[in-house]
Amino acid sequence: MERKDIFCNSMLDLNKSDIESIKCANHIVFFSGAGMSAESGIATFRGKDGIWNKFKPEELANFDAFMKNPGMVWEWYKYRHDIIRHAIPNEGHLAIAEFQKYIPKITVITQNIDNLHKRAGSKNIFELHGNIERNYCIKCKTFYNDIEEKVDIPKCKCGGLIRPDVVWFGEYLPEDQFKGAEIAASECDLFFVVGTSAVVYPAASLIYTAKHNGSFIIEVNIEETEISFLADKSLIGKAGKILPEILEKFNE
Ligand code: OAD
Ligand code: ZN
Repeated sequence: MERKDIFCNSMLDLNKSDIESIKCANHIVFFSGAGMSAESGIATFRGKDGIWNKFKPEELANFDAFMKNPGMVWEWYKYRHDIIRHAIPNEGHLAIAEFQKYIPKITVITQNIDNLHKRAGSKNIFELHGNIERNYCIKCKTFYNDIEEKVDIPKCKCGGLIRPDVVWFGEYLPEDQFKGAEIAASECDLFFVVGTSAVVYPAASLIYTAKHNGSFIIEVNIEETEISFLADKSLIGKAGKILPEILEKFNE
């Protein structure tokens, strides 16, 4: 069988029994990446217009770079925060939140730092790579939601440098978030992989955890990815179109 044969061109290719299994699921996990927020106007990292095509991750998303040049790293995060602050959840985020009405348990596991799942109304969220709306002091670990926008290098009352609460390359994921995500991946009966290239670990390992646990894997992406081979269904298209289409089927 040729690779492309296993792909559906639209959600409408999910057959009746797939839809029934979705409706009957007890616990659905949505595992999201940057493509989830692309339709909200937030750039993805890889691909044609990806952030990492224009900027070097080791110069911006890295603790040593921050210590060497905190002003530059802060300028970059303030710029991104500004885009994110003005972005609004798209139809895909809203559809995921809406699933909560129909399924006993929904878990969102996201690699995104943009808080858009929460703003869309999702409740049970694990943030694997942090949240750009939080910051903390590297010396005394005090958390700050707001930082003085006009200050180039924000400092804590204790004198320590404040940094964004996001995971940089070479850093561990927040233990409680990853642990919770692993439990959800190993318990769910359906696991959606939405808008991620699935190349960054350990986040991407959760897809394998779900697969080993026997959950049905549905991928939603505009193109084939590293993990398409293990998806039970790959739905090619935009998350903001496909997820609401699936939800519509609930009302038929
Ligand atoms: P990537 O930029 O690597 O991948 C985005 C994925 O979204 C690609 O597979 C696209 O094909 C897909 N995509 C784009 N638009 C879409 C749409 N409208 N609907 C559905 N899919 C779409 O982003 P991530 O996989 O999230 O980590 O990257 C993982 C991590 O790498 C990020 O969390 C970040 C980055 O470096 C850290 O900063 C630690
Ligand atoms: Zn401090």
